[in-house]
Amino acid sequence: MKLCMIGTGYVGLVSGVCFSDLGNEVVCVDRDEKKINDLKNSIIPIYEPGLEELVKKNYKSGRLSFTTDLSSAVKNSKIIFICVGTPTKKNGIGANLSQIFNVSKELSKYIKTFKIVINKSTVPVSTGDKVEKIISKKIKKNLFTVVSNPEFLREGDAIRDFIYPDRVIIGTQNKKTNKILRQLYSPLISKGAKYLNTSRRAAELIKYASNAFLATKITYINEIANMCEKLDINVEDVSIGMGLDKRIGGRFLRAGPAYGGSCFPKDTRAILNTANQIKSNLSLIKSVIKSNENRSKILTKKIFDILNNNLKNKKISFLGVTFKANTDDMRESSSIKLIPALSRKGAIISYYDPTGEKKEFKKIKNVQFKPSIKSTCENSDLVIVHTEWNDFKSIDFKKIMKKNNFKLFDMRNIYSVEKMKKDKIKYFSIGR
Ligand code: UDX
Repeated sequence: MKLCMIGTGYVGLVSGVCFSDLGNEVVCVDRDEKKINDLKNSIIPIYEPGLEELVKKNYKSGRLSFTTDLSSAVKNSKIIFICVGTPTKKNGIGANLSQIFNVSKELSKYIKTFKIVINKSTVPVSTGDKVEKIISKKIKKNLFTVVSNPEFLREGDAIRDFIYPDRVIIGTQNKKTNKILRQLYSPLISKGAKYLNTSRRAAELIKYASNAFLATKITYINEIANMCEKLDINVEDVSIGMGLDKRIGGRFLRAGPAYGGSCFPKDTRAILNTANQIKSNLSLIKSVIKSNENRSKILTKKIFDILNNNLKNKKISFLGVTFKANTDDMRESSSIKLIPALSRKGAIISYYDPTGEKKEFKKIKNVQFKPSIKSTCENSDLVIVHTEWNDFKSIDFKKIMKKNNFKLFDMRNIYSVEKMKKDKIKYFSIGR
């Protein structure tokens, strides 16, 4: 089929490339000329393992193309995916939908034959109705239909999550459209993905409700971890024990620092905003947001305790600062709160991340990027593992550390408590 992806960020580029890899003809549109030219030269704007090879392969095959020309892309495609950003509004409440509405206005200029317009961006419930209203100002209703098809891609696993999704959600009540989209997704369905056709609004809410639930699950185990530390219990035993109950499931029950990223913080705030607008009470999500925001304070206090409440001139090193492993994304990473808080207390901080130096820390006093694990850690009083990069999983601290009395705070529980005890390393972790 002939597809057009509007927006070449995490959602548009990954989905477009994967659709082309499944044999569809895909044109990816972006108004950013530099981005489009880079993509034509296989320069990828995002860090996503495996994406570069797929872009090269499908661009070479001619199935995948890049352009800034929306009119030709719409004209030559039957299915138009809207994959533009829906960031949190500057006031911190709700999603900013200006890009969605601008694109809807733009593309309605070019619809001459029947088009399926699909919202793949994460959008508040009823956004599809608003897109339909914008387009119908210019185009007769029998020449287009608006569908909600949310994505469930995790950064760092986006290609796998696209090819092997648990489910494909198609929000439309148009039977013909549903048939066409079931056909489009048939290669994934034949690999085991469940296909669910719902109303458009249900599909929009499924996305938010799913992300808010996952954020709740993580916050839940983080609070249980706080209890475990006071009860001398290993939270991992609790996670495993809970996860064996199929109704709970073991995934997303790993205790760690506050959840971050471009989605959970944004989507929990957005669903809460929708609830407030319709005067429906999401008290649980409200407390999840509060608990997660408070988590960095809890961990900062723990760092204080580890360093006997005196951070002045103490050397602290961070291993990893991104919001999770296998991404370069710093959006709402817990390190963005932790590092400045420690710097304000007089600590001298160095950090290393496999994805390089971060602009977020450039202007902060006594914070320095170091180019290797050893150079970051060797003179430190406290080493903090913030992100669970594989690079950190087999460090021989006895070899690289110059001070014997250094301490190690593992925020991702990537090391074994027993091994640390055997190596006589002063080791702290989460919920253990
Ligand atoms: C998430 C959803 O998983 C995905 O389905 C949606 O499409 C986009 O948002 P993403 O934000 O990329 O994906 O990352 P994810 O792997 O979900 O992690 C989000 C945050 O939760 C990270 O900060 C991660 O460290 C944290 N997390 C995740 C935990 O603390 N514990 C866990 O067990 C899992």
